[in-house]
Amino acid sequence: MHNSGGRDSVKAAWEKACQSLSHSYSPYSRFSVGAGLVAQNGILYSGCNVENATYGATICAERTAFLKAISEGNRSFSDIVIVTDTVKPTPPCALCLQTMAEFCAPDFMIHIGNLNGISVSYRFCELLTHPFGPSYLLD
Ligand code: THU
Repeated sequence: MHNSGGRDSVKAAWEKACQSLSHSYSPYSRFSVGAGLVAQNGILYSGCNVENATYGATICAERTAFLKAISEGNRSFSDIVIVTDTVKPTPPCALCLQTMAEFCAPDFMIHIGNLNGISVSYRFCELLTHPFGPSYLLD
């Protein structure tokens, strides 16, 4: 876990994720998700899922956090914490992994859990083994 922002920042990101989960707008699925993203400069960004009556315009908690960070000028990240109000930890969907592929290194850490804590942590490269990323276009 050498690229992680460290135990304290991951704990703080988990707290942010839990707070943000309480703001989830998910009237259709009733599945609330919160995310806490740790930037390499230590700044934390939160996100929740925001659903839409079209369904397709729904955005996941993880991408909400990334878009907040990037729109504020931050593009370097060490960890993300994802929480749901369920027993089974929820991994990021493929669209969110693709967003991570744009900005994150293989050892970016993805911690998943619930309101009781983090239960499992993965390196990004374990969840998306052969990402299509910017290097292919810029080659
Ligand atoms: N969702 C997330 O926010 N993150 C995930 O990692 C999985 C799915 C949201 C999208 C939708 O609002 C609800 O969960 C059900 O799919």
